[in-house]
Amino acid sequence: MSDSNRFPEGFLWGAATSAYQIEGSPLADGAAPSNWHRFSHTLGMTTNGDTGDIACDHYRRYQADVDLMASLGLNAYRFSISWSRVLPNGVGKVNDIGVDFYSRLVDALLDKGIKPNATLFHWDLPVALEDRGGWQNRDISEWFADYASIMFDKLGDRVPMWATVNEPWVIMDGGYMHGTLAPGHRSAYEAAIVSHNILRAHGRGVQAFRANKHNANSQIGLVVNLEPKYPASDSAEDIAATARADAYMNRQYLDPAMLGSYPTELREVFGDAWQEWPADDMKLIQEKFDFLGINYYTRGVTRHDPASIPVHASKVYQPDHVYMETGWEVFPDALRRVLVWVKERYGDIPLYITENGSCFYDAPVAIDGVLDDPLRVDCLKGNLHAVSQAISEGAPVKGYFAWSLLDNFEWSHGYSRRFGLVHVDYSTQERTIKSSGKVYSNVIRTSGAVLDK
Ligand code: FCB
Repeated sequence: MSDSNRFPEGFLWGAATSAYQIEGSPLADGAAPSNWHRFSHTLGMTTNGDTGDIACDHYRRYQADVDLMASLGLNAYRFSISWSRVLPNGVGKVNDIGVDFYSRLVDALLDKGIKPNATLFHWDLPVALEDRGGWQNRDISEWFADYASIMFDKLGDRVPMWATVNEPWVIMDGGYMHGTLAPGHRSAYEAAIVSHNILRAHGRGVQAFRANKHNANSQIGLVVNLEPKYPASDSAEDIAATARADAYMNRQYLDPAMLGSYPTELREVFGDAWQEWPADDMKLIQEKFDFLGINYYTRGVTRHDPASIPVHASKVYQPDHVYMETGWEVFPDALRRVLVWVKERYGDIPLYITENGSCFYDAPVAIDGVLDDPLRVDCLKGNLHAVSQAISEGAPVKGYFAWSLLDNFEWSHGYSRRFGLVHVDYSTQERTIKSSGKVYSNVIRTSGAVLDK
């Protein structure tokens, strides 16, 4: 195993964001509310009652943000499209001014030589659809395919990389199992159905992509969050708990999409809520896609814990290890391990790290244009080293997107959690490149060689 950091020719060096987290102006120019607009405006759902009303004001400042990306040297940018900007009713009449925003953004990126990577669904569902059952309604696969087709028609001539859904697991677990994210439900029955419908929608999205004339040379993928699970001990109970946790978080979507069946452990996790799914659905879910997007933040050292619902497993704190403000352990080797595991289990599909980053406290205001974030710098370097090692061990990793370009609205944590390579002063919207942003920029400029020093 080589210790020097090498990344292949043509490697994508990007950063990622999502619509509701950065755009602001959620109801501008004919857009209708999303479920995240409604959730954040519901008392008690976010820290300090924060909402995405203004966020990073990217909807109006996108050109300056694209210039910032270019100054960092990014050659790719992952963003998401707000469904309710484009289709205020979720279906039916298209809001052309909403589409135009994404069209201008894509042109601005191309103008700077930055490859657009568009995610169709990063959690903000039109309320019009939420009120018809949202992800619990089987029809959502058709609603999604229609929305996807519209976007392929409008942007497919210029966007070479698409993703259907961002992190099905978080939508299901946060939105429907534990209720910490929109729409805030708590039901294993709903969660099971939602998981399955997300995969059906993904399958229909891929079919719509193949049917569109623009897409012959572009790619479509699925983005999953993966968190390698390590047993806390070699007891049979801890090992079984680790397998359940791994099935629930890491294999729940990839096994059906790539191997054709759900992990057997899901019966134990969901209990009676889990169903026998129709064979036709399982076929649809296996629709072949072009790349896998992996979001990685942490690992889970796992022990048996009957009190922890629904997996009966919980994480064990690792003394002396560095933890993020989110409670996530910093452990770069798990990123190497998960990339190699994906290749071994699912075969040689191109891999992109579509999100990776860290959350540490930064001051609300940068002083004299400087924002030092040494913990984030360490984490970034460790993770990039892990990616390079995984590549040398044969994992087909083709690109890396840092989460996130900007500090932004971190869902139910509001603005209290910062992940950006670029600091945002929310009282002035001033952007300041953090030390981590400068390090990343140097990594890009030297194709990783600077990491060897
Ligand atoms: C991921 C989300 C992203 C961001 C990061 C920190 O789960 O996809 O929007 O919240 O976590």
